[in-house]
Amino acid sequence: MPTTNPNPTILGIESSCDETAAAIVINATQVKSNIIATQFELHAEFGGVVPEIASRAHIERILPVIQKALAQANITDPKSQIDAIAVGHRPGLIGSLLVGVAAAKALAWAWQKPIIGIDHVLAHLHATTLENQQPIKFPALGLIVSGGHTTLCAMQDPLNVKVIGKTIDDAVGEAYDKAANMLGLGFPGGPKIDQRAQSGNENAHDLPISRLDKTSLDFSYSGLKTALLYKIRGLPTGKGKSRRFEKDHTDLNESEINDLAASFQKAAINALTLKINRALAQSPNNTFQSLVVGGGVSANSKLRTDLQTLATQNHLQLRLPELHYCVDNAAMIAGYAALKFEKNQFDDLSLSPQPAGTLS
Ligand code: KG4
Ligand code: ZN
Repeated sequence: MPTTNPNPTILGIESSCDETAAAIVINATQVKSNIIATQFELHAEFGGVVPEIASRAHIERILPVIQKALAQANITDPKSQIDAIAVGHRPGLIGSLLVGVAAAKALAWAWQKPIIGIDHVLAHLHATTLENQQPIKFPALGLIVSGGHTTLCAMQDPLNVKVIGKTIDDAVGEAYDKAANMLGLGFPGGPKIDQRAQSGNENAHDLPISRLDKTSLDFSYSGLKTALLYKIRGLPTGKGKSRRFEKDHTDLNESEINDLAASFQKAAINALTLKINRALAQSPNNTFQSLVVGGGVSANSKLRTDLQTLATQNHLQLRLPELHYCVDNAAMIAGYAALKFEKNQFDDLSLSPQPAGTLS
């Protein structure tokens, strides 16, 4: 569907995991509204997101969230005020994605607007441009760190992105959540470990950093997770079903928990900076002009400080999202869609959810 509007107003919808979100963004970066309904309270007792509970909660919340996003942006007549509807259609939980995609298609049909399917992972990188007029310098090295992804990519421009490294097991955010669970800190674990680590000694325990082979840009967090488990619970006796631990986190005092949180965090983040440095060293003629970071873990205080140091040392422009754009949100979906809108890259009502996505 061709367009001529150079400053499109886009309704973004996001429902890939456990946040139901809608936003109105003008011209890729001006956020007029950004509504997020979290589901933490529904999943906390399970220590992680339960897909079936997530999709049911999306169904209940999606329309009120969209209505609130329209109202806050003073959109009273969407047919005349909105240029397109964007939806995160990959990757994610199939039942969750289905809700957002169905809502977006229904509204696109009712309002006769173009629909744009957006890759959630790429949208996280766009979050660094929301409410930030300064352009990203390309080529850029992109790092997505979330509950589902730990991915390094080479970005020629925002629409031309190639994966150069990714986790071979757990994502870094998932490792944070599991570590917090093992330490009895609750869900979601990232912010809790971040906070506890500030009162802990990061050198108290020497936890492993996965290097993989010498040139690899991939990540691995399963070894770190197991090493932390043994620090907390001691070495197990027995094997398979008869495996038993003598201790658990209730045997730790507050200061021991803080030290373990800080030591875990040091290893988890050093694993990221190690691979960023490798990617920079491997790039011919120092190609990268900037480091663009996105995803829930980019809210982490130590990661933000360490990346600032790394960027300064390597003369890179550092692009970190504002804290409220680190977590899943629909402003990043609507903003990124504007770049596709400009290039007339639209989808149609056959758009369907893709749980695996392209960057998985
Ligand atoms: O991007 P996101 O909202 O959802 C996914 O697409 O996965 O990321 C959620 C992840 C969770 O694993 C959460 O524990 C982590 O981001 N997280 C953090 C922090 N805030 C959120 N991890 C470390 N430090 C934080 N401050
Ligand atoms: Zn995400």
